[in-house]
Amino acid sequence: MTVDEIGVKQYQLFRQFLEQACGIVLGENKQYLVRSRLSPLVKSIEGATLNSYIDSVLSGNQSTRRAAIEVMTTNETLWFRDNYPFKLLEKEILPKLIEKKRSNRIAPIRVWSAACSSGQEAYSIGMTWLNLKKLNKTPINVEIIGTDISNEMLQHCQAAEYDQLAISRGLPAQCQNDYFESIEGNKLRVKPELKRLAQFRPINLLASYSSLGLFDVVFCRNVLIYFSAEVKKQILQKIAASLQEGGILFLGASESISDLTDEFSMVRGSLGLYYQKKPQ
Ligand SMILES: C[S@@+](CC[C@H](N)C(=O)[O-])C[C@H]1O[C@@H](n2cnc3c(N)ncnc32)[C@H](O)[C@@H]1O
Repeated sequence: MTVDEIGVKQYQLFRQFLEQACGIVLGENKQYLVRSRLSPLVKSIEGATLNSYIDSVLSGNQSTRRAAIEVMTTNETLWFRDNYPFKLLEKEILPKLIEKKRSNRIAPIRVWSAACSSGQEAYSIGMTWLNLKKLNKTPINVEIIGTDISNEMLQHCQAAEYDQLAISRGLPAQCQNDYFESIEGNKLRVKPELKRLAQFRPINLLASYSSLGLFDVVFCRNVLIYFSAEVKKQILQKIAASLQEGGILFLGASESISDLTDEFSMVRGSLGLYYQKKPQ
């Protein structure tokens, strides 16, 4: 075995650690993935090898554990991903919520972007709201909470600065003009009008979310795919408890929750599919 190979036992223990810490299930033969993701961390410590790094994670060292979780998460995201959830928000869901909240104007519409990565989903929800507000002069406000397990991603969300590659992935020119300003390094920064709609917090989907309060809409997209069926069930139960009655859940385009929960009805809208919390 060379210094860059992971022993069979060590790989099994690392898989267990990752699943317990953040739910991510690694297949039997994903040693190459662990190797490629951990290698930059190993190289940053003089004299370390892949095996000594994994030993440190397994022995409970907090900083190596945190760093390993950071690199093992996949943070792929883009603006207005899949398009239809944002169209549905604009055309059907937000207008209905505005109507529903008319009698209690103080309460904002609350939307949660669970596993928000670098913030594109949360800010896309915000842009959808601001576009709608141009036509519908409602006094009601929206509050968007973005959460993720990755501190690095949350710092990115908070900084709200995006390079040209990130911008080129789905941000319409009109939104770019309206809600972003140019800054140094050929980057764009989210304008205050949009930024102030969103707050970002660290939340592990395996832990409790009760501190976040109740939401009208939850986006939990492209993250459940990494988890076991049992963990998905537990998360869906907690999301249901975080939703107002009749609240809406969006999943990723390739994700399904049939067989996992009976707390939601599947709604086939004219623009696409979403889930609605059933009455208790
Ligand atoms: C592929 S991105 C999805 C981003 C966005 N929701 C989208 O659909 O474009 C998955 C995100 O889930 C986060 N994640 C993974 N495990 C998590 C956990 N246990 N709790 C919270 N976030 C987690 C990762 O850090 C990553 O940012």
